[in-house]
Amino acid sequence: MQKIIAANWKMHKTRGEAAQTAKDLAAALAEKNLEGRQVLVFPPFTAIADVAAAFAGKEVLAVGGQNCYPAEQGAYTGEISPGMLRDAGASWVLTGHSERRHVLGESDAFVADKTAFALAHGLKVMLCVGETLDERVAGRLHEVLSRQLGSAVGPLAQERLAGRLAIAYEPVWAIGTGKVAGPEEVLEAHAETRRLLTEFAGADGSRLPILYGGSVKADNARMLIGLDNVDGLLVGGASLEAQSFAQIAGV
Ligand code: PGA
Repeated sequence: MQKIIAANWKMHKTRGEAAQTAKDLAAALAEKNLEGRQVLVFPPFTAIADVAAAFAGKEVLAVGGQNCYPAEQGAYTGEISPGMLRDAGASWVLTGHSERRHVLGESDAFVADKTAFALAHGLKVMLCVGETLDERVAGRLHEVLSRQLGSAVGPLAQERLAGRLAIAYEPVWAIGTGKVAGPEEVLEAHAETRRLLTEFAGADGSRLPILYGGSVKADNARMLIGLDNVDGLLVGGASLEAQSFAQIAGV
């Protein structure tokens, strides 16, 4: 399966900063062997067009939005539609990132609506799932993954999802904390995610990439990407600097 290495820039970078990082990244990646890899950058909305321009003509690189609203247009102040993201140059969108779930209070049902709507409107979707520390300590990993994947992927079971949907498993306790999940924890969660995908997404479930995210750095990326059922990495903090992210993308 193709490996996807994705950068989530969150609420960082002005347009100028984003354009410069994107150019530096494209130049750094030109020197690496990226066969069988896809590299994605999720910048803030304001910088999507600038990053897309910097990546023009480079097939291995693509751009995505960090969020979208499940409507084509309308009275939804502060929101953005999949069509607007595509118009700006995005081909992907993140749904269900833990900061949207836990800081902005997005429910499983809302995440599911966004996922279905974005797919139906021509975007590829990276659906993020993962348990909090309390949930993990209480032994609720299976229940949380089953609920998050079942609500968003279950309704899409009749659709062709391969090549259009990726899952990012991000334990909430590992995001931005410097605490990367250990190999055993990643193996367990990814195997469980794979099993749930084959249950919810039918035949395509075995063909959907599952990325790991949460404190990925240049020095743990090789170990993580080598684990069973780890088909890519979603990188926050370590993706903000072009050289550091290029190093991760090239491991
Ligand atoms: P982090 O963020 O790499 O800074 O932990 C990952 C993410 O939130 O996607």
